[in-house]
Amino acid sequence: MTNRQTAFITGAASGIGHATAVRLAADGFRVVILDRDHEKVERSVAALRASGHDAAGHALDVRDRAAIAQALDSQPRVDVLVCAAGIGPMRAFDEITDDDFRQVLEVNLIGLFACCQEAARRMQAGGRIVTVSSRAALGAGSFAHYAASKAGVIGLTRAMAIDLRPKGIAVNSIAPGFTDTGMTRALTPQQHAAASALEPAGKPADPSEIANAIAFFASPRTTFVTGQTLFVDGGKSLGGLGA
Ligand code: NAI
Repeated sequence: MTNRQTAFITGAASGIGHATAVRLAADGFRVVILDRDHEKVERSVAALRASGHDAAGHALDVRDRAAIAQALDSQPRVDVLVCAAGIGPMRAFDEITDDDFRQVLEVNLIGLFACCQEAARRMQAGGRIVTVSSRAALGAGSFAHYAASKAGVIGLTRAMAIDLRPKGIAVNSIAPGFTDTGMTRALTPQQHAAASALEPAGKPADPSEIANAIAFFASPRTTFVTGQTLFVDGGKSLGGLGA
């Protein structure tokens, strides 16, 4: 079995997670794809292997702690965890139910917490955790539950960076802006056009832009950086649109 640095990536069967798997594999990591979509996991692993990369995959739900532990234990080492699994159903504030809210928190925040805790328990000094939050943590229309979950991810990232500092594990977050993935393609054409119009570039980012930033925090050369959130949003979080 290989002993190269191993990166586990949740939500890696599509979108930002998949682009991250491609980028980290190109950087020389063994990549392990964790995603609830069984068929897409198999396809992603096959595509990576066909390109000559070292890849494995597990179909699991990030809300299933036992399955996460089992997947992490399937490899001889855990060097990097990237938490990209997430859901973002758009809903008008007045229509969000308690169950809607709980579901988003369970995947985006509690599931992410379980992945981080299980991975950290298996990491040596020098390990790196990268969470994927969102620019929406600053506020986003018709996304109250999602924005709350992503603001939670930023707070959790900072807290984990403190708690894991004695173990030598760096924890950072990437906050993407509007990005061209399955999540945003699920919007209606009107919603998509409205969201694009709010972007400084007038269009969504390519997932590879986000993956490149994730790769920075996943690198063994950047472990002195911890507890940070990097907005990768074409400058939208700066405001001043149209100025
Ligand atoms: P995507 O829908 O293409 O990918 C999300 C992946 O997560 C899918 O493969 C899905 O099967 C997986 N997933 C969802 N729930 C899961 C669960 N319970 N257990 C395991 N896997 C699960 O969406 P995208 O855009 O690539 O999203 C990746 C991350 O980026 C998410 O956390 C999202 O909130 C975040 N994000 C996305 C933005 C965008 O504009 N696309 C903007 C800011 C943040």
